[in-house]
Amino acid sequence: MENHTKLYDVGVVGLGVMGKNLALNIADNHYRVAAFDLDSEKVKGVVLQEQTERVASKHSHIPQRIIGCNNLSEMLSSLDKPRVIVLSVPAGAPVDGVCRALIEAGIEQDDIVIDTGNSLWTDTVEREARYAELFTFFSSAVSGGEMGARFGPSLMPSGDSKAWERIKPIWEAIAAKADPETGLPIERQEPGNPVIEGEPCTTYIGPAGAGHYVKMVHNGIEYADMQLICEAYHLLSDGFAMSANDIADLFERWNRGSLNSYLMEISAKVLKQADPISGKPLVEMILDKAGQKGTGLWTAVSSLQIGCSAPTIAEAVYARAVSTQKNQRRKLSQLLSGPVPVTPSIEERDQFIEQLESALYCAKVASYAQGFQLMAMTAKERNWALDFAQIAKIWRAGCIIRATFLQSITQAYQAAAISGGELDNLLMADTFSQALSSKQLDWRKAVSTAVLKGIPAPCISSALAYYDSYRCEVLPANLLQGQRDFFGAHTFERIDKPAGDKYHLNWSDEKREIHKV
Ligand code: 6PG
Repeated sequence: MENHTKLYDVGVVGLGVMGKNLALNIADNHYRVAAFDLDSEKVKGVVLQEQTERVASKHSHIPQRIIGCNNLSEMLSSLDKPRVIVLSVPAGAPVDGVCRALIEAGIEQDDIVIDTGNSLWTDTVEREARYAELFTFFSSAVSGGEMGARFGPSLMPSGDSKAWERIKPIWEAIAAKADPETGLPIERQEPGNPVIEGEPCTTYIGPAGAGHYVKMVHNGIEYADMQLICEAYHLLSDGFAMSANDIADLFERWNRGSLNSYLMEISAKVLKQADPISGKPLVEMILDKAGQKGTGLWTAVSSLQIGCSAPTIAEAVYARAVSTQKNQRRKLSQLLSGPVPVTPSIEERDQFIEQLESALYCAKVASYAQGFQLMAMTAKERNWALDFAQIAKIWRAGCIIRATFLQSITQAYQAAAISGGELDNLLMADTFSQALSSKQLDWRKAVSTAVLKGIPAPCISSALAYYDSYRCEVLPANLLQGQRDFFGAHTFERIDKPAGDKYHLNWSDEKREIHKV
């Protein structure tokens, strides 16, 4: 490959879809990249793509910005010190595999290795400690898929704060940019012309693991957001006989209002797409078995472990699980009865569409409330000073859950900070409490339609149960505590005594005496 005469700014290891596009994005932003992958074809591919795009652009006079390396030692010797090396390899064992190979190749203590994969946050905490003597293990979760990586992702960096100072200019350059006034993404979809204006969608999240935790919750919210849209599609197609194309038109309309989001936009596009083989809507030819790589599951597990109610996120994971049980569903669809289908009138359909729009908005607010509450509880436990206004800000562009709605979340957290208080739950923010109060009746009607029609809407309805649970000053956990005390002497607190004082009633004794434990 090429002769390395000058030192390069950034090393990129792993040139799959994300790594290749991150490398090209970094190069677009005038940094010089030394790229390596075990597959030499991928190395040649990224070098050629950078060359071709540069020649085609007005930057053809600029020298080559990506060189390919034959191995990690060659990459290390091509890089300026302290080195910055971006890892884009699958989460799990491959991350440690590359770290070990970098140690063998001679990485030095001041060098910084940035894991950009969807690693489990606890692995990141361990890795930072494990490699501390040998190099700085830093992490930066990336959201935005292929196009995000290429033209501006949302980046969630965490780890050593000195390392962040070195990485920051590169990260701010390659990140997506949001308009500070409107919060809308500043679009860029052509090589060679980075967006300079706007607020970069990256901010230092906190100590090791914090960035991956925040990205994990982003993905939990993403699962809920996706499932909510899928439930709307299911209700409209099976409950109201709407065609994929008509639902696409409706989603396009919704995308121009308060439900605006990247996921709504692409859902409309997916629904509009015809199958090149059968000519039918492609969505109807796609097998209804959802895949998953684990981040939504990790979010649900984390919520259970820390005791944070996040039912809509968990239901989104369960919805993927039940989708994979195709054989059982096929059999049970013949065996179990449901309501007799009725053909709705156009008026009923139109009324339902309005209710569903409100229901989707409310359920979306509830699932974001769950995600932010989960981050807050974990931050407290881990002693992370997470800045939720900043987190909402860096999700306004570049990432998969980007939506105008995130500007309202940013403003809600900013307003809470200005008034010196903390926003314990997003449902407490004026904008959201007012919007949900005015839409809740429609939300209930949409859920009852789903129930009466026998169409599952686990996310829309669990979000409503979450809302109603938080609306209840008194929950039936009093009876639950009574049950626990009855069979296991687990004790209970009393409403008329100081919190923390525990009581037990002697349930088997005639006298039924109560005593403080
Ligand atoms: C993103 C995405 C990205 C990816 C996830 C989802 O923010 O860019 O969340 O991380 O699409 O891996 O994967 P699954 O749906 O397969 O779990």
